Amino acid sequence: MSEFPSSSGTRRLTLRRPDDWHVHLRDGALLQAVVGHTARQFARAIVMPNLKPPITSVAQARGYRERILSALERSAGAEAAARFTPLMTAYLTETIEPAELERGHAEGVFTAAKLYPAGATTNSDAGVRDLARITAVLTCMERIGMPLLIHGEVTDPAVDIFDREAVFIERHLKPLLERHPQLKVVLEHITTADAVRFVEQGPATLAATITPHHLHINRNALFQGGLRPDLYCLPVAKREQHRLALRAAATSGNPKFFLGTDSAPHLRAAKESSCGCAGIYNAPYALESYAQVFGEENAIDQLEGFASIHGPRFYGLPLNPDTITIEQNTPDPDGAGLPALLELANGTDQPSRLVPFHAGEQLSWRVL
Ligand code: NCD
Ligand code: ZN
Repeated sequence: MSEFPSSSGTRRLTLRRPDDWHVHLRDGALLQAVVGHTARQFARAIVMPNLKPPITSVAQARGYRERILSALERSAGAEAAARFTPLMTAYLTETIEPAELERGHAEGVFTAAKLYPAGATTNSDAGVRDLARITAVLTCMERIGMPLLIHGEVTDPAVDIFDREAVFIERHLKPLLERHPQLKVVLEHITTADAVRFVEQGPATLAATITPHHLHINRNALFQGGLRPDLYCLPVAKREQHRLALRAAATSGNPKFFLGTDSAPHLRAAKESSCGCAGIYNAPYALESYAQVFGEENAIDQLEGFASIHGPRFYGLPLNPDTITIEQNTPDPDGAGLPALLELANGTDQPSRLVPFHAGEQLSWRVL
């Protein structure tokens, strides 16, 4: 990472181009509306398979990968599409065949597989109810070196929603790691000090992604002056002590923690509803959002490791050869801030209306 002042004297940083190790790109019109935001900043992205129906076969993943690249070509041009690599994941069900995963991995289609406990989050109904039913799948992944990505929350309605991650670690993750000591596991979008500690103390085969929103908000933000559906996601934001633990972990330089935005767009109408969807759309300013946190923690020198190095090292993939430059914004007390609503072209007559994370705020960095 190198630093040069810009002509106006503000800080300017050049870092290796980052990757997003957890993103929801959706499909159809919404895909076309959002994919350019991710590809603008990130060279590669681990694409979540929770479509309807979920991505459970090699053929579906190939088709989805083609739709992603052609949507990007339509929205941002052929050059943007040539620079971006979607890394596909398989959605684990209780009936998926190990042979299908193994073939997809060997053919370079499936980079990883995603475990959703059934009912834990958006489009997770086809997920796994009983981990014992996927033992053969996990054994196969362990043998071929295919990472398992986990949405780590129990679905037991008797467990308080704010405790579901910590309980998952004790009830399911610990025994799973003992049963599969060679399996590479990413605990996705961690939200608690418990998860930070567990990953720090866990085996070298265990890592975690951290989202920008869990670094910025605690659970109070959901109720700030009224109900804030745009800040509702799963796992839900926790108490301040947990946010502080996540900030310490992300900025520590520990290679077990890396960038995964969990950008999860839902149309404004689906968020502002009597039963609003879970998911925060942070892709438009994701790198800026992380840079703000690293700056506030006096750890901007750790941003490159978190954003661009720890992830590929864990996955066993090459680092990106090219770079990206961010520049510090001069604060503007009269400035309007970021747009409150995005109306994104998507190839239909109606634009996709989405509220981005940091709507109306000013951020201290921007991608050049
Ligand atoms: C995600 C979505 O909308 O697909 N929602 C979310 O709140 N993060 C699903 C998920 O990752 O849990
Ligand atoms: Zn997600």
